[in-house]
Amino acid sequence: MSTLTIFNSARDAATTAPDASAGRPIPAVLGADLEVPVKGGRLVGYANLDYAASAPCLEPVSAAVAAALPAYSSVHRGAGYASQLTTARYEQARHTVRAFVGARPDDAVIFTRNTTDATNLLAGCLPEGTTTVVFDTEHHASLLPWPEAVRLAPPAFPGEAVRAADEALAGIDGPKLLVVTAASNVTGELWPIAALAHIAHRHGARILVDAAQLVPHRKLNLTALDLDYVAFSGHKLYAPFGAGVLVGRRDWLAEGEPYLKGGGAVRAVGDDVEWHDDPEPRHEAGTPNVLGAIALAAACDALTATGWTELVREEERLIARLRAGLASITGVRELSLWGDDHPRVGIVSFTVAGYSAREVAEALSGEYGIGVRDGKFCAHPFVRHLLGTADGGCEDGTASAVRASIGIGTTQEHVDRLVEAVRDLVARL
Ligand SMILES: Cc1ncc(COP(=O)(O)O)c(C=O)c1O
Repeated sequence: MSTLTIFNSARDAATTAPDASAGRPIPAVLGADLEVPVKGGRLVGYANLDYAASAPCLEPVSAAVAAALPAYSSVHRGAGYASQLTTARYEQARHTVRAFVGARPDDAVIFTRNTTDATNLLAGCLPEGTTTVVFDTEHHASLLPWPEAVRLAPPAFPGEAVRAADEALAGIDGPKLLVVTAASNVTGELWPIAALAHIAHRHGARILVDAAQLVPHRKLNLTALDLDYVAFSGHKLYAPFGAGVLVGRRDWLAEGEPYLKGGGAVRAVGDDVEWHDDPEPRHEAGTPNVLGAIALAAACDALTATGWTELVREEERLIARLRAGLASITGVRELSLWGDDHPRVGIVSFTVAGYSAREVAEALSGEYGIGVRDGKFCAHPFVRHLLGTADGGCEDGTASAVRASIGIGTTQEHVDRLVEAVRDLVARL
């Protein structure tokens, strides 16, 4: 199957179909006017280019939390009006998230702390003897939680990913789960999730898509893509209030060990314990993060109201400018698994010959007021693979890279400042 076939499939196209409710202006983020000190004590406007780690808060998200606070109360078990109102807001947040990812009506929507919490929750609910197939390109959140895992080498091209998954799944008996990221947190590259879902189902396997880096940048439609589970984090989706989510098929979740054991997860407790078999209460014991869920839903609403066409157009313009600028500097190498032209979200990782990644990141912050990430981005096997052994060595010999990532609130000036700062650093060598 060619790359083109994979990315032009009807089901992938369905994920980017225009949304009728779209068309509002792109919302603002809090902190757009933040000033930070640089060398010499000057203050400069902060160029936040670290969205892939945590995105700033959208104004409508902050407003939704502020609006919910006066009536904030316990959920599910309170008789008071404020409790009923807060419960309704919390459950409405579930519906909003369900609609945002295009989930099936009977899918479970479980609020978690973040993506890592969501993958670990699912890992604890796998039927006995499940084998998980996972690529070495994954973030640790999707690479590590599985009790029994087959790890596949980074594929040389998208069709190779499908072929390798096909071969691995064919060799496994019993329950199986394929885990794959939709957009890499290292390179931003999009993975052929529709084709991988198709292959998984042909082998009777299920698929979990780590959508942590996709949902802030692209529309996702779980039903159209025929995915079994998706996981993502609020703090990467402009809703930094400590909630994430796992969405997907109810049966494994209804039978799996309750994630936390305590109040809310039980129907009745006597000498025996009768656990809820609805996945939501079963795995949300204790007082949930109500404001986090409300924030997450407000972010979903705000992105949907803006519409993906406009968001994607602006992001693609800026990331193309950033990549072209970096490519024009001698000694800068962008990390990529599938080549320059492969579709990607607003993330670019790179090395600068003559500098460690830490030196670059520190200089960008201390001298230019630019925030980026350096390191291996919790994807150690993948970054090692991309760097080989020769590039990006820190003093301690650990290979690492610099990552710049963009989103709502990123300006052309931020992008140009980064390119010129790296050009300055190279000129000093
Ligand atoms: C692709 C991907 N998956 C999972 C995670 C983990 O997210 P969290 O730290 O919110 O659990 C990240 C975070 O960087 C990520 O980029």
